[in-house]
Amino acid sequence: MKDKKKIAVFFGGCSTEYEVSLQSAAAVIAHIDTEKYETVFIGLDGKTGEWLWYRGTPELIEKDRWRREGACVPVYPAMDRSVSGFVYWEAQGMKTISVDAALPILHGKNGEDGTLQGVLELAGIPVIGCGLLSSALCMDKELAHRIAQMEGIRTAESLTVQKPYDGEKLKLEAQKIGYPLFVKPVKSGSSFGITKVSAQEQLLPAVETAFAHDDRVVLEQEIRGFEVGCAVCGTEELFIGAVDEIELSDGFFDYTEKYTLKTSKIHVPARISGEKAEEIKRTAAVLYRALGCSGFARVDMFLTPDGEIYFNEINTIPGFTTHSRYPGMMKAAGISFAELVERILETA
Ligand SMILES: Nc1ncnc2c1ncn2[C@@H]1O[C@H](COP(=O)(O)OP(=O)(O)O)[C@@H](O)[C@H]1O
Ligand SMILES: [Mg+2]
Repeated sequence: MKDKKKIAVFFGGCSTEYEVSLQSAAAVIAHIDTEKYETVFIGLDGKTGEWLWYRGTPELIEKDRWRREGACVPVYPAMDRSVSGFVYWEAQGMKTISVDAALPILHGKNGEDGTLQGVLELAGIPVIGCGLLSSALCMDKELAHRIAQMEGIRTAESLTVQKPYDGEKLKLEAQKIGYPLFVKPVKSGSSFGITKVSAQEQLLPAVETAFAHDDRVVLEQEIRGFEVGCAVCGTEELFIGAVDEIELSDGFFDYTEKYTLKTSKIHVPARISGEKAEEIKRTAAVLYRALGCSGFARVDMFLTPDGEIYFNEINTIPGFTTHSRYPGMMKAAGISFAELVERILETA
């Protein structure tokens, strides 16, 4: 019998995107080839951040009943690198679980931002997906934009605000950027804390809303046109799925729209020329490499009516539900969800 690789799948986490992580992780787990891989599920409690070895079905994860109804045992990363895994306690004493790699399926803070990746790296557990540095850089909208600029890629004109700030001065500076503009926490996800500001009187309340999520806030010029995405998979050799397009009927791609698509629509492939799609893919690859990504990530950009490409952000752990954009772009390129999961696991 051939040796099965043992993969620790992480889900949950202390993040506003805890719920989304449960949906993504349940879908990924359901598509892992159990003939080839053995799995260990590590759930991170949404409030306490506690690590729990969960033995149960993906359905209970999806319904957020894993904590109450599944068998859960507290586990800790084993800082002894010869273990490459976790420790837990039984009546007889301390036990260890060794794994070949870890696959974090967490979104936002305390999971997608490099913190978990750093702990895993320190414990000598190979991480599937982006590592500490690229995760942290991609989570930081200001630093990621600076790196994109160094590669000669356009980004929205912007201004970063920290406390204490002078509201009147900020209004003058916002005037230079022009309305409408976007106010965002520097580190955000699922559009939490983001406001599209159309007039000056909405500016300061929007800035305060964003400060509830982060200690740095960015004011960004609105890029006209539409948002496009690229699903990138690989580390040395990259595979890029079909480019997708977000069609908005009004407002922006906020939390409700992202998960209900009430007034917006996702087109895969995007309704653009083959040439433009290739240019977007090349740009995505440059950004992926410049930000040190590995394994997989979704690169989001804007395409203006003049055909100019602007970098928006890289999601190092994009949504992974069966109707999410990343698997959708791969599907349009002929890669099924199960094949995608297999490819991702192989990058380890
Ligand atoms: N500069 C911008 N110009 C136009 N639309 C923007 C801009 N920044 C953000 N948006 C809109 O807001 C949404 C969320 O912003 P984004 O920076 O992608 O944050 P998140 O990390 O929460 O997804 C985008 O999908 C887009 O619809
Ligand atoms: Mg986004």
